[in-house]
Amino acid sequence: MEEQIKQLAEDCSGEIAAATSENELYAVKVRYLGKSGLISELMKGMRNLTPEERPIMGKIVNEVRSKLEERFSVRGKELHDKELEAKLASEKIDITINKKTAVGKLHPLNAVRKRLVDFFVSMGFDVMDGPEVETDYYNFEALNVPKDHPARDMQDTFFIDDGILLRSQTSASQVRYMEKVKPPIKMISPGRVFRNDDDATHSPVFHQLEGLVVDKGITMCDLKGILDLFAKHFFGEETNVRFRPSYFPFTEPSVEVDVSCSICHGKGCKICKGTGWIEILGAGIVNRKVLRECGIDPDEYTGFAFGFGIDRIANIIHSIPHIKLLYENDVRFLKQF
Ligand code: DAH
Repeated sequence: MEEQIKQLAEDCSGEIAAATSENELYAVKVRYLGKSGLISELMKGMRNLTPEERPIMGKIVNEVRSKLEERFSVRGKELHDKELEAKLASEKIDITINKKTAVGKLHPLNAVRKRLVDFFVSMGFDVMDGPEVETDYYNFEALNVPKDHPARDMQDTFFIDDGILLRSQTSASQVRYMEKVKPPIKMISPGRVFRNDDDATHSPVFHQLEGLVVDKGITMCDLKGILDLFAKHFFGEETNVRFRPSYFPFTEPSVEVDVSCSICHGKGCKICKGTGWIEILGAGIVNRKVLRECGIDPDEYTGFAFGFGIDRIANIIHSIPHIKLLYENDVRFLKQF
């Protein structure tokens, strides 16, 4: 019997060394050390031994068993490490392989819009989103532009139905806001607007940002103060702001606002068409009629409003010569920002 157990131990050691995977090794272990494995089978023969021989044999079998256990565990670890290594090697990802994949970013128009909104929000302005399909009332009538008003000619409007149109200006949001919120008011409303215009500096779809401040004692000085900060923030510290008298039905008095050209610093260049100034927006003191129409007493409150084209600001900041470049989404163009 001793011979047999030694032979079994030898065979088992040979198979342990020959196993090439953890699974194979496990099968060997079950066959030799399992409950009904070869060693257990052999132990059944103990019955035939004398009482003196039994403990001696039992000791030998236990020693063999623990030696084999030890071998299984050493070989098991070896095979485990080998398999893990092979798995890692086969699943290795070459992180340099995709280095030419383009990473997306904000469209220059949206990036500028975000900066503009952030600027006004940092000064406590509320942000309002108005509808793009608007009524004649909010887009024109409530803003003191009645049906037969010549100012309508300046905004060649897309009409959808009787009294329904694609808004031609974000000024419509002013009225919607004042209907809901009473002074003190500080709001901006950025968004898409539509006009039947199409050339190098005009697109049928473009973007405006409307601003409105209404409170007791608001004057033109407040307007100038805010626009001065705005101009310096976006076009540089040395930028000057100039007001020119103008006309809008919803403001009285009205102004057009120019900033000194940041390219030539006022000397005159191609960008500013030799004038040293670039027109950026329309503004003024909110017309008493508009305040009254929105349920705000013009004897108690005054306000200023302004509106500018976001596309125009983006074009000035980035020296983009043609508004259509912002809409064609040619990646060669977009990559530059
Ligand atoms: N809505 C005007 C336009 O589209 C711009 C404008 C001018 C807005 C004066 C204003 C303003 O709020 O007070 O041309």
